[in-house]
Amino acid sequence: MKYTTNNVRNMFLNFFQEKKHTIVPGSQLVQNENSDLLFTNAGMNQFKTVFLGKKKYPFSKVTTVQKCLRTGGKHNDLNEVGYSNYHNTFFEMLGNFSFGEYSKKTAITYAWELLTHKKWFNIPQNKLFVTVYYTDEESYNIWKKKIKLPNEDIIKIYDKKNKKYESDNFWQMGDTGPCGPCTEIFFKKKKKKSYINDLQNKEICIEIWNIVFIQFNKIQKNSILPLPILSIDTGMGLERITSILQNVPSNYKIDFFDNIIKKINYKDHNNHFNNQSLYIIADHLRAIIFIIYEGIIPNNEGQGYILRKIIRRTLVHMKLIKYKKYFLYQLIPTIIQFIQPYEKKLIEKKTYIQSILQQEELQFKKILDQGVKKLLNELHQLNKKELDGNFVFYLYDTMGFPIDLTKSICHKKNIYINQNKLDKIILKNKKNIKNKKNKNCMIHITNLKLNNHFVGYKTKKIDTVINSIFVKNKPTKVIKENENGIIFIEKTPFFAESGGQIGDSGIIYKNGSSLFQVQDTQKFSNYIGHIGKLLSGIIKNNDIITAEINKKKRLCIQNNHTATHLLHAALILILNHKIEQRGSFINHEYIRFDFSYFKKIHKIDILNTEDIVNQYIQKNTVIMNNNMQFIQAKKEKYIYLKNKTYDSIVRTVNIGHFSREICKGTHANRTGDIGIFKIISYKRIAYGVVRIEALTGLHALKNIHDKYTQIYAIKKFLNINDNIIIPKINTVMQNYLNLKKNNEYLKQKIMFHKIKKIIAKKIKIKKINFICKKIDITQSKLVKKLIDQIKNMINTGIIILYYQKKEKYIFTSSVTKNIINKINAIQIIEIIKKNTNGSGGGKVELAECVGNNINNIFCILETIKHTIEKII
Ligand code: ALA
Repeated sequence: MKYTTNNVRNMFLNFFQEKKHTIVPGSQLVQNENSDLLFTNAGMNQFKTVFLGKKKYPFSKVTTVQKCLRTGGKHNDLNEVGYSNYHNTFFEMLGNFSFGEYSKKTAITYAWELLTHKKWFNIPQNKLFVTVYYTDEESYNIWKKKIKLPNEDIIKIYDKKNKKYESDNFWQMGDTGPCGPCTEIFFKKKKKKSYINDLQNKEICIEIWNIVFIQFNKIQKNSILPLPILSIDTGMGLERITSILQNVPSNYKIDFFDNIIKKINYKDHNNHFNNQSLYIIADHLRAIIFIIYEGIIPNNEGQGYILRKIIRRTLVHMKLIKYKKYFLYQLIPTIIQFIQPYEKKLIEKKTYIQSILQQEELQFKKILDQGVKKLLNELHQLNKKELDGNFVFYLYDTMGFPIDLTKSICHKKNIYINQNKLDKIILKNKKNIKNKKNKNCMIHITNLKLNNHFVGYKTKKIDTVINSIFVKNKPTKVIKENENGIIFIEKTPFFAESGGQIGDSGIIYKNGSSLFQVQDTQKFSNYIGHIGKLLSGIIKNNDIITAEINKKKRLCIQNNHTATHLLHAALILILNHKIEQRGSFINHEYIRFDFSYFKKIHKIDILNTEDIVNQYIQKNTVIMNNNMQFIQAKKEKYIYLKNKTYDSIVRTVNIGHFSREICKGTHANRTGDIGIFKIISYKRIAYGVVRIEALTGLHALKNIHDKYTQIYAIKKFLNINDNIIIPKINTVMQNYLNLKKNNEYLKQKIMFHKIKKIIAKKIKIKKINFICKKIDITQSKLVKKLIDQIKNMINTGIIILYYQKKEKYIFTSSVTKNIINKINAIQIIEIIKKNTNGSGGGKVELAECVGNNINNIFCILETIKHTIEKII
């Protein structure tokens, strides 16, 4: 086949190489922590600063194949995947880029040549039409005069609802950043006179290539500044263009997906409904593989959250189509080999990817099983055919049980869920969460020339100028008493949260009369924002103020940060280099450090690590820092995070020769400042990831004191002295276990006695044993056990046991297997339900119900008995 997915990818690159573009590798899929994005969503992401003129790129014309993920933010295709034939969460974007080098005309001509020339994609010209932004006359004229498209094949696209730049033909990377008008090339699937009303109808036409003219920088909502030079950014989805070249009606039918779907190999491949789930599984599995490959682990925030969402969505679809053949993680080795040209790299990390997925899969399966159980139980007790939205949300909120799955189970059982009500509940809860997270909301900086300097490595207090103020996320000139807001100042000693270290707190004040309390410091698009409340007075833009951090707190934070570096170095030493940092959190009272380690971690390793850190604390080494080229730092083997992007100049932190890391955080002056270091816990938090929690200084000391207090209390309690604590506890435990055993034995004996009493009361109905007895056991599990034992002893018979709970009676009925063709437990329960106005159900051998409004239990039991008599 000429147009295999692999060939199409190569043809694209070759074409642009012939046009003197440099082939550059796509960037990572996972974006670093300074980015507004979680995942790369377009080929142009890696060139953002180049487009904005902030960075010079060594080549002015480049072409790339970019791994993209569109699962959130401005570009989110998650809900389309599987239901639309042309959407993928993870996809490869083919792109060519010019940084001020060529014109709109060149960009358009290149695209047209690649798509239509015989040597290349050879698509008939009359199968294509285009859209342009309504004010972009230049592009319009190129299509008309140079390419000679007929008028009806050039469609002008306007702004939505008259909102300037809100248009499908004005491309924006995110809420801020490079943007500009674009022209899109569409493929005609069905022949029509005009496509203007069908642009979104993928049965009629599909968009294949987007050519963006980067002319502006969006700095905030409604504020767009022109850029000095015109750049070109284009993007074409590899899977989509391949589907056209292979003449198949869906991305999922191209050779690449066809191979994968065959391997997933589900017998019902031709069932339309199941196909959708199958497409979702195939698409998501590829996304999952790449995200885990790049070092993300499923969890509840940021990228880990998206990963978890995609995995769970896949598992739900496996459940929906009752896919039993494999576990998801078992599919990985088969699938990976088809993900070319990345397969070699992926295969290297196959076992790792599989194990991370396996952990999450097994954990979620448990949630699914528990959720299904809870849901069925609830459905069982429903009096009407409607399930309350609050319960649907409760399952989702407390256990993570997917709403889609609840809906699907209810749908099958003909139980109705009021979607409107459910939407309202979800919305209300989202709002609550949003309010709680108020401090994390995004604000946009108006003044790009903001001078915003961090001076806090040495300075703890400085006189400086107010640059801008935000109240309720809007820029304002003043902040008044009792208002919450975010303040930006020219020079700041406040460290903004990053690299695991929390932001500083402190005060910003003026003339002793106005006082702003800084509760937290965060970065907003790289500017340091001081979040807090004006406690008194008034603060205005351009005011001269004093900014002063909480020194005591900062000292604790920086001691903890240095201790974290020592911990990292000690772990490398003790665990033989086999670790890599996965995450950290450092505040003034606590350290958390996550790292990859695949072997079992022993207590002795932890004790040794703790010892080494404390030895370095005692050495009282001076901490040194330096700025150097990132390349140089790498050469000199400084530790850095593999999945983080660094500036070309980085800051290095040295603790003698023992610890050398690239780090922007604040540190102690000497290791002795830390005082003492204590590991308080270590545990595995995911496959291959270990978490250590530790304390330093007075916090560590307090922890040790607390432990001693507990030991004193235990000693007093057991009335013993120090060295016999453990033997004494052993004896107490042994006694306890003996008593427990004895107790079990006694319980069994009582049970046996009860059974004998119950059986003694049996009567015969038409030669069949019939037992109907009130009992004083009120746990359904025990009742069932009792019934089992009675059944063992009587061989043939009908048993009804019941107990009272307030005004209600709970009945359990059971029938021995050998007579269920005459009468079964469900029939009996139905009779009881009818006579007691009850609700319940079960299986033929055992069923239960709750009986209401019982005035005269004796009469009711007689009626039940007579009815049974009539049946058998
Ligand atoms: N950046 C443009 C897009 O993603 C090409 O559509």
